[in-house]
Amino acid sequence: MASFKDKIDLDKVPTHVAIIMDGNGRWAKKRNRERIYGHREGVNSVKAVVEAAGEIGVKYLTLYAFSSENWSRPKEEVEALMSLLVQGIHDELENIMKQNIRIRVIGDLSKLKADVRQAVEDSMEKTKDNTALNLVIALSYGSRDEIVDALRQIAQEVKEGKLEVEDITAETISNHLYTAGIPDPDLLIRTSGEVRISNFLLWQISYTELYFTPILWPEFKKEQFFEAIYNYQQRERRFGKISEQLSK
Ligand code: IPE
Ligand code: IPE
Ligand code: MG
Repeated sequence: MASFKDKIDLDKVPTHVAIIMDGNGRWAKKRNRERIYGHREGVNSVKAVVEAAGEIGVKYLTLYAFSSENWSRPKEEVEALMSLLVQGIHDELENIMKQNIRIRVIGDLSKLKADVRQAVEDSMEKTKDNTALNLVIALSYGSRDEIVDALRQIAQEVKEGKLEVEDITAETISNHLYTAGIPDPDLLIRTSGEVRISNFLLWQISYTELYFTPILWPEFKKEQFFEAIYNYQQRERRFGKISEQLSK
């Protein structure tokens, strides 16, 4: 069977793809297994999608791994997710270096336990000079918190006389978010059939193309990723203009 990969126009690959990786629990439940079994298979999907993104030259891949709201899940599930993360970093770091991937973690890292935080910070430090794919992991991430943080910093700068109120622009806000320096996503994928944003990148997705698929995250592998990219490439991004203006 032909692969969607062959249909992708390599000159029009989105620079930044963001993914809400959802459906691990339901995938496990369908198999009469514990939710953690789904999270474990979800790690294999992460590896597949990171490789796929590298293969077609995506520059930024942002993965929503754990939201600020996910702290409210049962303690055992939170702990299992955190140890999968630490284990994943430990097992994959060599591979990540080989693939020349730079890791950046965004979110409220102050909420993480010391060992988790250490693993995350080490991974960022070790990969900081890598230049192929930028792998952005949203961990303990909430978009509203991110915006609140940005506004506090901006207010502080105004208070200290470093910034004039009239000089605050959309760019000022972008530059104070955790994602400062990262271009806005071109494509946002959410798996599992839920059609919502769940406090992810609210500011950054104002003109992002959205792609929702019923496929559960543990079943989302390379081919499903390529299909999403192909789907994106069939769209016309008008940014408020009309079609005729774009062809020029
Ligand atoms: C996504 O799968 C993983 C995280 C949110 C950490 P879920 O755990 O939300 O799986 P469902 O949505 O319950 O199936
Ligand atoms: C969103 O999934 C967060 C992540 C994928 C990490 P959830 O499963 O937590 O989202 P809701 O609560 O169902 O919207
Ligand atoms: Mg979910």
